[in-house]
Amino acid sequence: MKIIPLTGCLGAEIFDADLKDPAQFAEIKAAFTQFSVITLRAQDLTPDNLLGFARRFGPINVNRFFTPLTSHPEIAIVLKEPDQQGAIGEDWHTDHAYDQIPAMGSILHAIETPPSGGDTVFCSMGAAYDALSVRFKSMIEGLSAWHSSRHVFGASQADAESVTSGRVGNAELAIQDALHPVVIKHPLSGRLGLYVNPQFTTHIDGLAKTESDALLQMLYTHCQKPEFQCRVRWQPGDVTMWDNRATWHKAINDYQGHRRYMHRVTVEGCRLDAP
Ligand code: SIN
Repeated sequence: MKIIPLTGCLGAEIFDADLKDPAQFAEIKAAFTQFSVITLRAQDLTPDNLLGFARRFGPINVNRFFTPLTSHPEIAIVLKEPDQQGAIGEDWHTDHAYDQIPAMGSILHAIETPPSGGDTVFCSMGAAYDALSVRFKSMIEGLSAWHSSRHVFGASQADAESVTSGRVGNAELAIQDALHPVVIKHPLSGRLGLYVNPQFTTHIDGLAKTESDALLQMLYTHCQKPEFQCRVRWQPGDVTMWDNRATWHKAINDYQGHRRYMHRVTVEGCRLDAP
């Protein structure tokens, strides 16, 4: 297989690999650990093949809110129809941050893509952390932040198009709040990285709202620098896997009038610890 970095910061494209081949797994996993985001081009996969690949990383963590594939309930559907306005995952986020044990990684398989657009952008939380000043790093050391699913998937969103269109549901299950360190030591690489995100983080524990809002906004502005990013352009058959403890991601909604249909699987993670 050929592994080509996408940027100087994170992400790699992998050509001539076959996710179905167990003999290739060690090399693919090593690339995932190194680059945090890997895009395996032109895979010929059934839903069972996708689940088989995911299970080599660990048990599947079934998403409570996304509509599942009827034949394979462990696979979540990520869909935007031509007449729908909103895409799933348009805000910067990291999957399952609202869980006490957030998902380690997410795997997205492109089934149908628009003629152009519909890319996914990622950014490196390790690179964003590294670029902070020593003094600022010491200021945020020891802080923890609350994350929640309630304001994104709960009853307050009943009128959102994602809910009325049937793409997202189970509002009654949006009862998770989780406290995680603002700076984590990555469980695989040991690299330090920021672990707050604009979609699911609600506030920094122990700070006044104005203090928490200002600090989070400063971190969010910092993290969104293009220097920390890579962008994946999809073709049907491509599979991208990302590390939720090392990255943010965002679906680019620029393909109005076209269909984009993906299958997503999330893999169980572990508790996140401060350095
Ligand atoms: C997601 O946020 O998991 C979906 C990303 C995408 O559709 O590009």
